[in-house]
Amino acid sequence: MVIKRIFLIGFMGSGKSTLGKRLKSEIGWDFIDLDDYFEMRYNTTIKDYFSSHGEEAFRVAEQKMLAEVSQKEKIIIATGGGAPCFFNNMELINENGLSIYIKLSVETLAARLSGAKQVRPLVAGKSGDELKVYISDKLSERESFYHKANVIADGDVLGVDGFVRIIEASGQLLK
Ligand code: S3P
Repeated sequence: MVIKRIFLIGFMGSGKSTLGKRLKSEIGWDFIDLDDYFEMRYNTTIKDYFSSHGEEAFRVAEQKMLAEVSQKEKIIIATGGGAPCFFNNMELINENGLSIYIKLSVETLAARLSGAKQVRPLVAGKSGDELKVYISDKLSERESFYHKANVIADGDVLGVDGFVRIIEASGQLLK
């Protein structure tokens, strides 16, 4: 298979953007963070978009952005944590590239999100046990979508090199 795009998927705080930026320098493709792309195209923050339009409208707009970036080639895309879980987005992702689910435990996600949750409307204001329960519930709702990924990678143990090896073993990168 010739890989034209790589989609990194996973829960909020799973390190999709960090990994995407590292992969960008490893394989020399461009990198797009779908949340940043959204904010630039709509000239707003996701937080503000959620509060003025609500989550449903956000998901519709997010799908448009996903379809748009799926036209680009030689690109690594970090999707928002919810993007794979609405409409037929997971099918759209798999039709257009290699999808990698960065799988992490509830504990690791909670530890990561408790430090940086202000910009994420879905976890803003949650901490401690409330945050863990939220992550655990949401993750069980979402995992059936995440598990449609071509590759399920253990985010706790794999380094960037490991991800590069997985990508190389999955197909040939478009030249
Ligand atoms: C969301 C995750 C966020 C962002 C929005 C909703 C979600 O992206 O798209 O706040 O539903 O999980 P990150 O996963 O990049 O934080």
